[in-house]
Amino acid sequence: MAVDLLLGLQWGDEGKGKIVDVLTKDYDIIARFQGGPNAGHTLEFDGIKHVLHTIPSGIFHEDAINLVGNGVVIDPVIFKRELNNLEQYNIDFKEKLLISRKAHLILPTHRLLDAASEASKGKAKIGSTLKGIGPTYMDKTGRNGIRVGDLELDDWKERYNSLRDKHLAMIDFYNAEIEYDLTELEVEFFKSVETLKTLTFIDSEEYLHQAQRTGKTILAEGAQGSLLDIDFGTYPYVTSSTTTAAGACTGLGVAPTKIKEVFGIFKAYTTRVGSGPFPTELFDEAGEIMGRVGNEFGATTGRPHRCGWLDLVALKYAVHVNGVTQLMMMKGDVLSGFDTLKVCTAYKYKGERIEHFPYNIEAENVEPVYTEMKGWKADLTKMTKESELPQEMLDYIHFLEKELEVPIKIVSVGPDRKQTILR
Ligand code: IMP
Repeated sequence: MAVDLLLGLQWGDEGKGKIVDVLTKDYDIIARFQGGPNAGHTLEFDGIKHVLHTIPSGIFHEDAINLVGNGVVIDPVIFKRELNNLEQYNIDFKEKLLISRKAHLILPTHRLLDAASEASKGKAKIGSTLKGIGPTYMDKTGRNGIRVGDLELDDWKERYNSLRDKHLAMIDFYNAEIEYDLTELEVEFFKSVETLKTLTFIDSEEYLHQAQRTGKTILAEGAQGSLLDIDFGTYPYVTSSTTTAAGACTGLGVAPTKIKEVFGIFKAYTTRVGSGPFPTELFDEAGEIMGRVGNEFGATTGRPHRCGWLDLVALKYAVHVNGVTQLMMMKGDVLSGFDTLKVCTAYKYKGERIEHFPYNIEAENVEPVYTEMKGWKADLTKMTKESELPQEMLDYIHFLEKELEVPIKIVSVGPDRKQTILR
């Protein structure tokens, strides 16, 4: 049985959580493959909004198994909070939420290191969510990390102590002004570790292998977006994991030959949170409208998102890097009301027109070249069928499909599960 894959094609916050939730009914297992609590996956149904950070977005479906894969980094403190927030739903976490023994742990000092590193960078800061993501992945690749499976070993606290002491020396080295009470942080951390230990730890790659052999359907859930990928994103303004399709192979132990559909999620416009280049960013009323109507604030940090027109050069790049087979367009409703819409179809790069995503997209090198399209006025939020959509929006969709050479199979017209048009 094949594995399908769902990922964000822009700078994150595309609406992956909602789509995983919509698609979960077709899958036996939902598996998160990278990132950590820097993610904020928002789901809305029955008038209630839920934000998940580490727990996969299939958790509200009774029949689905949710798996946190080896490529994910877990902060036990945030994880415990997420579990507490879900208490009212009486979910059998021991059965329904499985954790890979090979997933790495975010320690309190990883978070402090993140803060110290960002503070030391001044203006060049990444705009990290400060959840300790970078330092944890650094310890993973530096072969110093502590994994979930280590919690089952007797000596893990000794290893914890030695890593913590190393981190404290590194924090001193940064000489940054950050305040913390480590004793308090550690009390909370060790309490949360005990909660984590009540869940089921598994050798997840073997579990997924057997699941495939027995015909189970699996959806791999990505976090962040392709333009934040450690290799293919706008480095160094990226996150520290592989957010592109290859991340599902390394983050779950799924072979590339087993991946079938690659669902690529994008917004009908573009947003970015944190620092880094963004060629189509708007600083005018249009950008302000997108932010306000689209409620563009981070689900994890509450920071306002930067907003701009759809960047097809960047989107094409993401479609190619990921091998996207089906597209899903989110927040089409937010564009209702504009007389004219702009879509970036090329860059003027160092004075020359180019149509590919170059090494460096800093503002001094890149100027967007726009194609203009007629906007639409209708309120889309109550529409349930493609035939109800205004012609101008259908023109927009057809234009994107032609440019991207991939069909748009879902058009989302609001945050609720029900506000989803299947094509
Ligand atoms: P970090 O992963 O927290 O270190 O953040 C690195 C960069 O990725 C920053 O610009 C963040 O704002 C951005 N980022 C991290 N996670 C997300 C996400 O889930 N959505 C959008 N941006 C994110």
